[in-house]
Amino acid sequence: MTQKSLTAIILAAGKGTRMKSDMPKVLHSIAGLSMLGHVMKLCNDLNVSKTIVITGHGKEQVEREALKLNPQAIILEQKEQLGTGHAVLCASEILKDSSNDVIILYGDTPLITAETIRQMQIIRNQHGADNVFLGFESRNPSGYGRLIVDEKDGELVDIIEAKEATPDQLKINLCNSGVILARSSVLLTLLHQIDNKNSKGEYYLTDIVKIGRSHNFKTFIGLCDEDEVIGVNSKVELSHAELIFQTRKRLEMMVNGVTLHMPQSVYFSHDTQIASDTIIEPNVVFGVGVSIEKGNHIRAFSYLEKCFIEEDSVIGPYARIRPETSIGKGCHIGNFVEVKKSIIEKNSKINHLSYIGDSLIGQGVNIGAGTITCNYDGVSKHRTIIQDGAFIGSNSALVAPVTIGKKAYVGSGSVITQDVPEGKLAIARGRQVNLEKKNR
Ligand code: UD1
Ligand code: CA
Repeated sequence: MTQKSLTAIILAAGKGTRMKSDMPKVLHSIAGLSMLGHVMKLCNDLNVSKTIVITGHGKEQVEREALKLNPQAIILEQKEQLGTGHAVLCASEILKDSSNDVIILYGDTPLITAETIRQMQIIRNQHGADNVFLGFESRNPSGYGRLIVDEKDGELVDIIEAKEATPDQLKINLCNSGVILARSSVLLTLLHQIDNKNSKGEYYLTDIVKIGRSHNFKTFIGLCDEDEVIGVNSKVELSHAELIFQTRKRLEMMVNGVTLHMPQSVYFSHDTQIASDTIIEPNVVFGVGVSIEKGNHIRAFSYLEKCFIEEDSVIGPYARIRPETSIGKGCHIGNFVEVKKSIIEKNSKINHLSYIGDSLIGQGVNIGAGTITCNYDGVSKHRTIIQDGAFIGSNSALVAPVTIGKKAYVGSGSVITQDVPEGKLAIARGRQVNLEKKNR
């Protein structure tokens, strides 16, 4: 059966008091991407045709982030947080005119996979269900809504919020994740019938189950692992979600042929890309925007951000590769070397204690220990160009803008302020004098 196109509604109005932060909860990040961003990425994976974000607390900031990630996203404000049912109703004007299916997601539940949502679609089709709720077996169900399933036909009969549950119902560990796949029209019909006569005085989205059943609408459940639907309410839970994400990413890397000597010590960003036959030693951090080709060796304690590394290079130990850097094939970037916004072409070596910034380094260049590109004059940044085959002696300072020609040679300890022509040897340092010692 072909799937209808999907409209996603992401609830993101909550305050997140327990985060103890001035920043709205859904903007806290996991692997370098806001939780809202993770949910929007899921929408992207699912090819949703419309993404609606319900905002409330910190709405300007949440809106900015949502539009940055998807300029077509529709942002709707829930002025007062009167409950999850009320939040979804904020989108009623859009649902009214839609024949799409709707998927309801949460800005603070960032780890759901597209595979799980596809499973919900399959269950929907198999049972000819109107709505599918996503449930999970919880190790510690405490505050979650409990799913009451009819043993005979497997239909979801009701969801009892923990606050309303009897002691017997509290023993149920089949819980509601909150994620719902529904038909727009059915959802809207049911939402108009919920009330707030419960212990929290809120409009519970979950009430659509019971009301739906009384109208002969069929609701079934999909199931997923608890790790996928972990909700984040505090910094402690944020760290749990981060750990689950990192564990997944490390596994994915290894399955794809990347060697991780000690996976639990490597930190990935949500978008880190590494090709097979690359080796990652312990304690390496990948900031956002790193892409690494095959056969590289990233040695211990290196920190890389927004860079591209071609094949067969060795980076680190203790290297820092900063944004907008690209490193060619067969390069060596050694210990305590910082490279920023630079292009380094193939087979070049910067092995020890250097700073290379705003530079273009050609092929087969050798940069001696302690070389510094002085790229900043206090007002602007300037470029250093070092052409193919040049050799920079140790402890040289290259004052930009400056060009070192092909196969030119810079003597150790030089402060280079003028271009060095191709093939020339430049020495720019005080001459050594050896004086007689005075007898004292
Ligand atoms: C909800 C479910 C519960 C489920 C649990 C899973 C209801 C009534 N209960 O409970 O069955 O087990 O999630 O985590 O739906 N939100 C808004 N506007 C509102 C209220 C909430 O945007 O007016 C957002 C919150 O920011 C939050 C999410 O919806 O991200 C869930 O709301 P919350 O109040 O935390 O619901 P729970 O009591 O956890
Ligand atoms: Ca919650």
